[in-house]
Amino acid sequence: MSKPLEGIKIIDFTHVQAGPACTQLLAWFGADVIKVERPGSGDVTRSQLRDIPDADALYFTMLNSNKRSLTLDTKTPEGKEVLEKLVKESDVLVENFAPGALDRMGFTWERLSELNPKLIVASVKGFSDGHHYDDLKVYENVAQCAGGAASTTGFWDGPPTVSAAALGDSNTGMHLAIGILTALIGRGQTGRGQKVAVSMQDSVINLCRVKLRDQQRLDRVGYLEEYPQYPHGEFTDVVPRGGNAGGGGQPGWVLKCKGWETDPNAYIYFTIQGHAWEPICRALGKPEWISDPNYATAQARQPHIFDIFATIEEWLADKTKYEAVDILRKFDIPCAPVLSMKEIANDPSLRASGTIVEVPHKERGSYLTVGSPIKFSGLKPEITGSPLLGEHTDEILAELGYSKDQIAHLHAARSV
Ligand code: COA
Repeated sequence: MSKPLEGIKIIDFTHVQAGPACTQLLAWFGADVIKVERPGSGDVTRSQLRDIPDADALYFTMLNSNKRSLTLDTKTPEGKEVLEKLVKESDVLVENFAPGALDRMGFTWERLSELNPKLIVASVKGFSDGHHYDDLKVYENVAQCAGGAASTTGFWDGPPTVSAAALGDSNTGMHLAIGILTALIGRGQTGRGQKVAVSMQDSVINLCRVKLRDQQRLDRVGYLEEYPQYPHGEFTDVVPRGGNAGGGGQPGWVLKCKGWETDPNAYIYFTIQGHAWEPICRALGKPEWISDPNYATAQARQPHIFDIFATIEEWLADKTKYEAVDILRKFDIPCAPVLSMKEIANDPSLRASGTIVEVPHKERGSYLTVGSPIKFSGLKPEITGSPLLGEHTDEILAELGYSKDQIAHLHAARSV
């Protein structure tokens, strides 16, 4: 099966998570992704949070599959020369260094586009260019705090809370991948590359769109009827943390199931979809609620929504989360069990769909990773293990036209 991005060569000058997540996705879809790493150490995640001494850490292996690794010291004259050759032959350069690092290395946007006017230069930074924080180095949780996610996540009586989901890192990488693909299509029209930049703050804000919706509603009417603070609690002038409340017009909550006292994930998420009220009442054995004026409309239910959730929890007390969902699905009620990572790792449906895949690795044996969440009718991305540090250095140098002697010289000079 041919892959849509076959023939696209990408210099992957990324590290940690945001950049690598982007280039990994493009590699799955067929791009030749050359990961450029500092000789000796490589991407810092190779050695972070190791579970096997001296083997690449899962942090690295799970973000760098399907790539080739080239070690290159781009601060030496020889290393710069190799990078220049690579730039001339590539379609895209992706980087997520600290602000100004690429410029300090001598590879400004002007220099790169002079070397190759068709090159697309794609960057992740913490804040967008010109922002008053644009000099800051940024990691995941910093972006979640600066992007509005933390102030709106958690419970009203607790501090701002970050999400376990990588809203700042992988999410920004996905935004950048969309930008790169757009620039590639644009290049097909104009013949020229361009600079594509995505900031982590902006990417988080993009996912917090509904919270900006809520700020404007709050400014206008002074309350937010879908939040637990309504109608008995207090609102201030900022969007509050709403715990596990549904973010749209459908009230929902995380509810205890059988075994919650000992199993931290014996819960389901239950949504009270307005038009599903009748089936919910039937599922719960409360047919009298269907026409009761205290229950019949969403507005009537809201003042005592937590009493309704408590009644549902009574119904759930003798059911596991799986049993509960199996009953509720028959009534078309939007719900799901709260799944642990262990359950996700072993889920047969996720294995069958290729969302959780086991891939071979030269040092580790094999490891589990998350495969492509995007499914195509004409492409089945095949996930391969991540490269060892510098595994493809000689191969890539030879492709660039370096002779065996020249390659040996580069090694001796520690430039690769
Ligand atoms: N050869 C020679 N030098 C190299 C190199 C190579 N192959 N690869 C990297 N370097 C150099 C860089 O040029 C830089 O040198 P300089 O500081 O002298 O200019 C240096 O290594 C370190 O890069 P930096 O990006 O500053 O690393 P850091 O570990 O201090 O910071 C981040 C890490 C992630 C905080 C920072 O890169 C950052 O803010 N990136 C943008 C936002 C981002 O992507 N955040 C992470 C999301 S997972």
